[in-house]
This record gives sequence, C-alpha cells and structure tokens, in this order.
Amino acid sequence: MPVKPLVLLPDSQLRLLSKPVEGVDKAVRKLVDDMFATMYAAPGIGLAAIQVGTPLRVVTMDVSKRDDTQEPMALINPEIVWSSEEMRVMEEGCLSIPEYYESVERPDKIRLRYRDIDFKEHEIEADGVLATCVQHEVDHLNGILFIDYLSKLKRDRVIKKYTKLAKMKDEEA
Ligand code: NI
Repeated sequence: MPVKPLVLLPDSQLRLLSKPVEGVDKAVRKLVDDMFATMYAAPGIGLAAIQVGTPLRVVTMDVSKRDDTQEPMALINPEIVWSSEEMRVMEEGCLSIPEYYESVERPDKIRLRYRDIDFKEHEIEADGVLATCVQHEVDHLNGILFIDYLSKLKRDRVIKKYTKLAKMKDEEA
C-alpha cells in the first residue's frame, strides 16, 4: 500500500471532473488501498482519487476520532441525493491545501448514495462531520475546492500563497 504524492493547489488537475467507476477491478482495489495509506499517513479524514492524480469517482474517508478504532469507508461513485435546507458552519481543511483552515457553511444533513468496494449500492443519511466530509469530497470529484466557498479576497490570497510555494519547490528541485 504505497503512500502516493498529493496533488497540491494550484495544480489544475484539482479542477478536473472525475469519471464514474464502471466496476471494481484489481486496479480500483489498488487505488483504494493506496488512497487509505496516503490518507492515514497525511493524516487526513478524507481523500478523493484526483488528489493522488486519478480522475475517478472514488473517495476514502475515516471520520472516527483519533485513538478510536479505525472506521475506513470507501465510497465508489458517491452521489448526494438530498440535502437539508438547514445549514451548519464547520472549519474545513484539505490535504491539497496543507495547513490552511477556514469555516465553510454547508447543508447540515445529507442523503448519500454510493457503492462499496464490492460495487454494492448503499444509501445512508449523514450529519455532522460525516456530512461535511462527504460534501467536501464529492466536490473534489466535480473539480470544486472548499476555498471556492470563501470570499474572492480570501480565495485569491490562498491561491497566491500556494502558487508561490509551488514555485519555490520547483526551483529547489
Ligand atoms: Ni479536500
């Protein structure tokens, strides 16, 4: 289960529309394994395949609290089929925008349809951290980042900062 390099802002891959998975084969299982390894190593609570450079509708998540037992969830072709009108503000971060956190308002509750690693369909209701995390990750599959919900001023400032960081890294290499 190799840890993969993360795709970071402002890489344009993060703006791609990811494609549905048509069936779970060896390659998809390996992708999920690698994503869990990468997510736990970071550490993070959610990861979309595009964040390791694969534009497929695959998400890994574990929103269990640290020190608790692990609760890995693999979501294949996740789809939010209902969202509450009631909203909730939570602080979010993203492994593609390391060490940047900001409050985002999203629907408080959602209904999620997805397929598991055996391609079996499920529908669940989620609220709290799970609902926020699912919405954040499904956004990734559609090329949307949490900074898109911030004011233009804040967003521009973040993009500028990470563009500068990426340039510095390129020059070091
Ligand atoms: Ni993210």
